[in-house]
Amino acid sequence: MSRLSENFLWGGATAANQFEGGWNKGGKGVSVSDVMTAGAYGVDRQITDGVIEGMNYPNHEAIDFYSRYKEDIELFAEMGFKCFRTSIAWTRIFPNGDETEPNEEGLKFYDDVFDECLKHNIEPVITISHFEMPYHLVKEYGGWRNPKMIEFYLNFCETVYKRYKNKVKYWMTFNEINMIIRKPWKPGGIKFEEGENQLEVKYRAAHYMLVASAKSVVLGKSINPDCTIGTMLLHTTSYAATCNPDNVMAQVKKMHEAYFFTDVQVRGKYPNYQLKFMERNNLNIEITDEDKEILKRGTVDFIGFSYYSSSIEIADPTDEEKSEGNEIKGYKNPLLKSSEWGWQIDPVGLRITLNWLYDRYDIPLFVVENGIGAIDEFEEDGTINDDYRIDYFRKHIEEMKKAVLEDGVDLMGYTPWGCIDLVSAGTGEMKKRYGFIHVDKDNDGNGTLARTRKNSFYWYKKCIESNGEII
Ligand code: BG6
Repeated sequence: MSRLSENFLWGGATAANQFEGGWNKGGKGVSVSDVMTAGAYGVDRQITDGVIEGMNYPNHEAIDFYSRYKEDIELFAEMGFKCFRTSIAWTRIFPNGDETEPNEEGLKFYDDVFDECLKHNIEPVITISHFEMPYHLVKEYGGWRNPKMIEFYLNFCETVYKRYKNKVKYWMTFNEINMIIRKPWKPGGIKFEEGENQLEVKYRAAHYMLVASAKSVVLGKSINPDCTIGTMLLHTTSYAATCNPDNVMAQVKKMHEAYFFTDVQVRGKYPNYQLKFMERNNLNIEITDEDKEILKRGTVDFIGFSYYSSSIEIADPTDEEKSEGNEIKGYKNPLLKSSEWGWQIDPVGLRITLNWLYDRYDIPLFVVENGIGAIDEFEEDGTINDDYRIDYFRKHIEEMKKAVLEDGVDLMGYTPWGCIDLVSAGTGEMKKRYGFIHVDKDNDGNGTLARTRKNSFYWYKKCIESNGEII
């Protein structure tokens, strides 16, 4: 086969909290992202105690997909999207998270969004939880440090699996599930308390999420045996800095941190290196027989993952060598160039990642995030010439194709991140733009929200039209 399959799912990816806006509309409750202020490159976003008047919360309005979804989906259709990845804001369906009855207005919103996609032959690819758990669950129960989250999450899952049974075929249980270890607020609503054993809290939360994910897979299949349910991993592609075996070992350890999650979710049990790690660090995490049983039964159908950049690992590092990256950082690779936000650009790393994952797990993969955050400027004639973005995508798609066509990786599709400009999860900025579609809004929240096609829009349209042949 010298071409990608005609069923290859070309599309784009977003997350409700970063692009919907309408944070308090239609009965929606406050999520963990709604209490995060704007930050900047090198300046952390603040997490406030509830929503405080006068603070800048970029996710509140975001790009207002909530009111503009028809126009936006029309633009996705114009590019020829076969699928569209987004998430369901948990707080639209269960504003506090612990209700028994869902919010009908929230459910209706996603009915409308999915109907609009399907009208254009765009398959929704849905992340159930993407950095938007109810803030109430944090205040009242402590977030995912508490096993009660499993019950609340499953109630949410059951509601959406049932409601969208005839509209959604592709699901992912948690976005970047491994993020809980490095940045536990967004995925887990975890802020540490004085004197807490942070490592234990994080790995306990990870355990509850893994159990919840497995239960969700079993539940989803019982509701719709034909649906496909995957995990979503932040892939921290790391190379050993040199052929010094100590550096290679450092790289192995770094990869274990991520693969622990997929090992459990694909192979259905805790890997030995993780059990040893927990023992060594005296982590008191109870894995019951019932947990073991469900982890075995609730394995995923595919691995969705995000890939933006790579880094290197050094056994004996010095501080100066640190590199920026998608929350889980490594060290600088002197051979690679970086984005304006310091993320190292490595197209071959995508092929390597696809090979590593496929060799290890032998199940279908899905690149559900890839892209470059950059500052875009309008030309005098009103166009946006984002050649750097085209260049990034061209090179990554070339490598992705090699992984499929030369190496035989089973790949379901490709959804570039932030196919329309949206709020950055890491910095809360608008000026860190990923989209094929520009949105007129700045970091302070000013702008008309008007949508403009960038040059990359036309390029990606051709790419999809030709099934990746013309890039
Ligand atoms: C991933 C997330 O971490 O990377 C997205 O799933 C996020 O939510 C994306 O937006 C890019 O990161 P950032 O910090 O540039 O928005």
